[in-house]
Amino acid sequence: MALLIITPGRNALRWQRELQRIDSKLDIRIWPDTGAPKEIEFAFAWNHPAGELQKYPNLKCIASLGAGVDHILQDPDLPENVFVTRVVDPLLTRSMSEYIVLTVLNRRRNFCVYREKQQKKKWHLEPIVEFSRCNIGIMGLGEIGKSAAKRLTEFSFRVFGWSRTPKQIPKITTCYGNHQFMQFLHRSHILICLLPLTPLTKDILNQSTFDNLPEGAYVINVARGEHLVEHDLLQAIETGKLSGACLDVFRQEPLPKKHPFRRHPKIIVTPHIAGITAPESVAGQVVENYTRVQMGEPPLHRVNLQRGY
Ligand code: NAP
Ligand code: GLV
Repeated sequence: MALLIITPGRNALRWQRELQRIDSKLDIRIWPDTGAPKEIEFAFAWNHPAGELQKYPNLKCIASLGAGVDHILQDPDLPENVFVTRVVDPLLTRSMSEYIVLTVLNRRRNFCVYREKQQKKKWHLEPIVEFSRCNIGIMGLGEIGKSAAKRLTEFSFRVFGWSRTPKQIPKITTCYGNHQFMQFLHRSHILICLLPLTPLTKDILNQSTFDNLPEGAYVINVARGEHLVEHDLLQAIETGKLSGACLDVFRQEPLPKKHPFRRHPKIIVTPHIAGITAPESVAGQVVENYTRVQMGEPPLHRVNLQRGY
């Protein structure tokens, strides 16, 4: 039985090497060289072509190469009765938290403003606002949201978190559900999206959300491009409701060259690099899950298919 790597446009050989470093006997196929479809029991996937995974009659598990699984669940022809798993990895969580801390500090200490002033040869001091007077609102208190929240409290920020179900996390003011969403937004000077993409969270960064933030709030989206209604963001920046945004994920990636975000002075764009899924760090859990599935055991980090994350 075999493990299929199906990650078009990514370096599948690097994953193959790392998986075989852990277990040299693994029979690994790299799509589209799949061999006999009936031999594939496990698929390691990122942006697979829709419908492709139906071709493997003995498939038992689809493992996402990343933390998100929207790229798998959006396939209308996904095979039924298979496990779907995702990556939960300390290195990925750490790199996401680092990106978030860096962006928040950059914002609070005005580095972008100084860079602009440097180019105009200006020497002008911006007021420094105490971190303890800045509220950070984190949408999503899962693996990454919780870690980023903790890191931010270490810098004395006041951190608020919003999730689907109630949570108790030391030093974080938490709220949950639609009924507490507005009160969460009203306090968030910096709003960070760390939600999974599901039918309930798609387009959640929209005009109504922005309208409920404090004047001049700043938005960081490191979750998925489809969370953001792009036109509403541009308009909210235009009217001054938002002071700017930092975006790592986009509806279309790579972001088209002529997209208005590319040259916007108040929007920082990064090419989906906030979190790193490093084969050296993640291959172990993929091999473990492949072994579990072969032995008829449920894999780790399973996704709840009803919830969509
Ligand atoms: P996770 O552990 O599954 O956590 C998801 C959080 O979102 C949970 O706290 C959950 O609430 C909350 N949530 C889900 N639906 C909600 C809703 N309708 N209303 C309110 N809260 C809701 O996910 P994670 O590992 O932290 O990752 C989050 C996302 O980050 C991923 O799905 C992926 O899209 C993105 N990501 C991006 C990068 C990058 O490089 N840019 C890297 C890694 C991940 P409950 O706890 O109450 O269930
Ligand atoms: C990256 O976007 C991930 O979901 O891990």
